[in-house]
Amino acid sequence: MSTQTYRALVVSEESDGSFRRSIREKPLNDLPDGDIQVRVRYSSLNYKDALSATGNKGVTKHYPHTPGIDAAGVVEQSHSRYFKPGDKVVVNGFDLGADYPGGFAEYVSVPADWVMKLPEGMSLRDTMVMGVAGLTAALSVYRLTEYGIRPDGGPVLVTGATGGVGSIAVAILAKLGFQVTAATGKREQVSMLKDLGARDVIPRKKAHDTSGKPLLKRRWNAAVDTVGGETLSTVIRATSYGGAVTCCGMVGGTDLPLTVFPFILRGVSLFGIDLAFSAMGLRETIWDRLSHQWKPDLPELLVHECGLEGLEERIALMLSGAHIGRTVVRL
Ligand SMILES: NC(=O)c1ccc[n+]([C@@H]2O[C@H](COP(=O)([O-])OP(=O)(O)OC[C@H]3O[C@@H](n4cnc5c(N)ncnc54)[C@H](OP(=O)(O)O)[C@@H]3O)[C@@H](O)[C@H]2O)c1
Repeated sequence: MSTQTYRALVVSEESDGSFRRSIREKPLNDLPDGDIQVRVRYSSLNYKDALSATGNKGVTKHYPHTPGIDAAGVVEQSHSRYFKPGDKVVVNGFDLGADYPGGFAEYVSVPADWVMKLPEGMSLRDTMVMGVAGLTAALSVYRLTEYGIRPDGGPVLVTGATGGVGSIAVAILAKLGFQVTAATGKREQVSMLKDLGARDVIPRKKAHDTSGKPLLKRRWNAAVDTVGGETLSTVIRATSYGGAVTCCGMVGGTDLPLTVFPFILRGVSLFGIDLAFSAMGLRETIWDRLSHQWKPDLPELLVHECGLEGLEERIALMLSGAHIGRTVVRL
């Protein structure tokens, strides 16, 4: 009797405490007993995947494990009345690829309430060019615009601007007519960021003040911060009266050294962004914007496509801070 198998990237913990990644052929019946089995066509690389793939137990508690917080593909089996074999679907976040076998595999088997039909006007690949990073960028912009931040209010800063979330945030904000300032650690990417729509590009260190001053000169009306730590602290302290800042990331640290003064003397608002467990209704709104009026004009130069074999190199780039744009994984 033949057992059907599928290929997956498997991260395993070695006896010396190190973590090893390998591509394995696994029996299909190894998958969890989800409501919906999806033949994955594309996944994407997000920072959280790079952490999971290298043994970060804050993201993934149990190994061996297959990362991949994004998956787009075709339903093969369904125990849900909302989906049928042949439906094109996407899964972004929830526990996928965190503590649940993820999208760096030819198949996933997931709870029905993690699954969305393919957004209208998008291909499976398009959804993974966006992926969790794009949804997070769009959710950040959504929070700012719903709060009342308008293009005529002054510059909007994006930190970690060449990253997945950052580059898509720059593109969306520029498309909406905002005056975007991009902060980056990559001097050689200034013209790419200007092509993407940034009006100004500043070196990363200009958005990194460690003086400890409770308030800084007002420089931005709003900001999408993807870095965290001292950078987020700087951004909040340099935001104008009544402005707003979104916080989604931690590549620059998890501490937030700050006083209450930006909030109580300048009325600055801070919005926390969590895409992973955001409600389905909100995702539908965000996908709708991303596939229509907010559709970012990302040059193909910013999109790198690879197979499972190419992930090793892309993960290393991401963890060193040298990754640019988005990596789409073809399965
Ligand atoms: N909360 C959520 O729902 C959610 C969802 C998605 C992502 N995130 C988080 O958002 C962050 C960005 O994710 P991503 O997928 O965009 O990652 P990414 O593609 O690796 O981009 C991160 C960017 O940050 C900058 N950077 C890297 N190391 C830095 C450092 N030490 N100090 C300052 N800047 C640094 C780099 O851009 P420059 O060289 O241009 O400065 C880098 O390209 C991650 O922390 C991720 O976990 C959160």
